[in-house]
Amino acid sequence: MSETSNNGKHDRTDGVTTTTHLVKGEDLNHHQTLYAGRCVEWCVQAAYIAAESCFADATPLVFMSIRSLSMRSPARLGELIQYRGTVDYVGASTIGIRVDVQTVQPRDNPRTIATGRFLFCTVDDAGRAVSHGLPEKEPAGRGAAARWKDAPHIEPGVTLDH
Ligand SMILES: CC(C)(COP(=O)(O)OP(=O)(O)OC[C@H]1O[C@@H](n2cnc3c(N)ncnc32)[C@H](O)[C@@H]1OP(=O)(O)O)[C@@H](O)C(=O)NCCC(=O)NCCS
Repeated sequence: MSETSNNGKHDRTDGVTTTTHLVKGEDLNHHQTLYAGRCVEWCVQAAYIAAESCFADATPLVFMSIRSLSMRSPARLGELIQYRGTVDYVGASTIGIRVDVQTVQPRDNPRTIATGRFLFCTVDDAGRAVSHGLPEKEPAGRGAAARWKDAPHIEPGVTLDH
């Protein structure tokens, strides 16, 4: 378990957070599918909740960058979609969150809508990067850490429409 004691309070990086959204008319593009910008907004919100949830007490955290984003299938009016946030990378002041987006239904065969990686940074009162004290974590797999440290890129197959 990735847990650290902060004055007796427990910060942890092994949690999973989920948010659920109903796709409404105002969330659609001209193809009548979920607008990518809305999907990104919900991704960033879900990622922020996952990152902030590492801390036992409220901790100033700012969004740094979208490291990757891949839209996999369209979501349609009336569908419920769930955003699942997990901690994939922890640096000294940064936290990298992977977000997996899928339909809630059918429950036994959900459809993947999108996946993405989002980087946050803890800051002091002046907005400067500051160490958060969480145990550092490198993602498993060859080249995986580079996803969080190298220049951002867009994965092949990404389509961002409006
Ligand atoms: C986040 C911010 C404070 C970082 O400032 P900075 O001068 O880049 O900070 P540092 O150089 O000390 O780097 C801080 C961390 O970011 C990492 N970093 C910096 N640039 C990076 C990049 N392009 N890609 C990946 N990581 C990067 C550093 O490696 C370091 O990681 P670590 O401490 O976990 O090892 C600054 O960029 C900022 O204020 N950005 C605006 C945030 C904002 O307004 N967000 C929207 C509202 S929430």
